[in-house]
Amino acid sequence: KNGMSTNIVWHECSVDKLERQRLLQQKGCVIWITGLSGSGKSTLACALSRALHSRGNLTYVLDGDNVRHGLNRDLSFRAEDRAENIRRIGEVAKLFSDSGIICIASLISPYRKDRDACRAMLSEGNFIEVFMDIPLEVCEERDPKGLYKLARAGKIRGFTGIDDPYEPPLNCEVVLQQTGGDYASPSDMAKTVISYLEEKGYLK
Ligand code: PPS
Repeated sequence: KNGMSTNIVWHECSVDKLERQRLLQQKGCVIWITGLSGSGKSTLACALSRALHSRGNLTYVLDGDNVRHGLNRDLSFRAEDRAENIRRIGEVAKLFSDSGIICIASLISPYRKDRDACRAMLSEGNFIEVFMDIPLEVCEERDPKGLYKLARAGKIRGFTGIDDPYEPPLNCEVVLQQTGGDYASPSDMAKTVISYLEEKGYLK
């Protein structure tokens, strides 16, 4: 038993996703940004949201760190809580995408099976996985919140990349990495994602 209630019936409304998308002139979808802490997920999410907004597209950002302040405040960083964090954000992102909005989810989501479960939950083409392929050494060097330092000192246990695994995507839609020894700027990375969306017909 998975705890699901019985005696509940799905209710369909006559205003559907297609009509909402027509109104918004875009395709609702989930852009799922995964990567290590300090890889620049939140920065990319904001740059992407800003660039799409300026282009006339409606977006909404769900940031792991932020959602953990509210909806997911009861969750820790144990594997099963991370799975639940990802599942809930996936479900919320699905609602946003169904509303016609381009939902940008940015969270470490370190385990492949949790990300794949979100992909499976969404219809074909509605889950766009973007991998921030930034080496651990670079993230650790940046250490914007000083958490790697604490993890190395054993003051935080189960930190992704240090003593908890990060499983990179095997087959994702967009990979963002360094270009010729340098790291692409957030706005260049946002442009790469937007080009993908344009090419695949998500934007009018
Ligand atoms: S997850 O794995 O997807 O559930 O994580 P997420 O919700 O994205 O939260 C990641 C941010 O929480 C801080 N933090 C940790 N990260 C990894 N491992 C451990 N143990 C941990 N403890 C706290 C960290 O600041 C992450 O921030 P980002 O924005 O990713 O740098």
